[in-house]
Amino acid sequence: MDANQYPKEVTLTEKKSVCPSTALAYLDPQYWDERFSNEEHYEWFKDYSHFRHLIQPHVKPTSSVLEVGCGNSQLCEELYMDGVAEITCIDLSAVAVMKMQERLLSKGYKEIKVLEADMLDLPFGNECFDVVIEKGTMDVLFVDSGDPWNPQPATVSKVMAMLGGVHRVLKPDGIFISIAFGQPHFRRPLFEAPEYTWSVEWRTFGDGFHYFFYILRKGRKSSNGEGSRQKLPPPVPSMSLLHEELEGEDFIFLTKIDEMDS
Ligand SMILES: C[S@@+](CC[C@H](N)C(=O)[O-])C[C@H]1O[C@@H](n2cnc3c(N)ncnc32)[C@H](O)[C@@H]1O
Repeated sequence: MDANQYPKEVTLTEKKSVCPSTALAYLDPQYWDERFSNEEHYEWFKDYSHFRHLIQPHVKPTSSVLEVGCGNSQLCEELYMDGVAEITCIDLSAVAVMKMQERLLSKGYKEIKVLEADMLDLPFGNECFDVVIEKGTMDVLFVDSGDPWNPQPATVSKVMAMLGGVHRVLKPDGIFISIAFGQPHFRRPLFEAPEYTWSVEWRTFGDGFHYFFYILRKGRKSSNGEGSRQKLPPPVPSMSLLHEELEGEDFIFLTKIDEMDS
C-alpha cells in the first residue's frame, strides 16, 4: 500500500489541540465537531491491519456494511480496498461527515456513502444491512456510566437504544461487530438482553493490552437464552495498566469506561 495514499497522520500539535481535559467531552457533539475541524486522521484503538484477520471471515465483497461513528478513521477505506463495495458510514458530527465525504471523493471512492446520523436513532429501514461495525463508538456512551458493574440507568437506556437500532437494521442473519475497550463482564449483560436474538462471542487483539472484538450473530441465540459459553477472563482493573501499553488517548478513554475500585 502506498503510504502517500492517506492524508497526513495526526501531528503532535494537532494532538494537543484535540485531546480533551476530561473524557466527558466525548459525550459532547460540539467537542467532536471542533476536534474534526482540527484533525485529519486519528485511529481509535488500533488500525485495520491489527484486526483484519478477525473481520474478514464476516464481511464478503457482496455484504452491505454500515459503519457507526466513523469519525476520521480509515476503516471504511480499508474495507473498500479489500473489495467491499456497499459501505455506508454515519457519524453525529457534521464536520466529520463533510470531511470524510471530501476525503473519499478525492480518492475516487464514490460508492461509499457518508451520512450525518445519530446511532441512537438510526435512519434506516428494518433488515437492510448484512454487517454493522462500530469501533470505539459505543464506548463513548460509557464515559459517564459510573460503576461498570452497575451502570447508570441513563447509560443503559442509551446503549439499549443503540443496540436496538443495530439489531433492527441487521438482516435476519446479519452480524454486528463491536470493537471496544469494554470487557466481556460488563458488555455481555447488555448484549445478551432478552430482546436481542444474536449470539455473543469475542476475540481479543493487541500486543500488550487487549482490545475486544465482539461478534454478535443475529438469530443465533441458543434456545436456553445464553448468548455464549465462552469462559470469561477475569476483569482487568484498568488503573493497573501501564500507560505505555496504550496509545494516544486510549488511556483516558479506558479509565472512564472500565474504571473499578481496586
Ligand atoms: C471514539 S470516536 C471513534 C471514531 C472511529 N470509529 C475510530 O475508530 O477512529 C467516536 C465517534 O463516534 C461519534 N459519535 C458519538 N456519538 C455518536 C452518535 N450518537 N451517533 C453517531 N456517531 C456518534 C463521534 O463523532 C466520533 O466520531
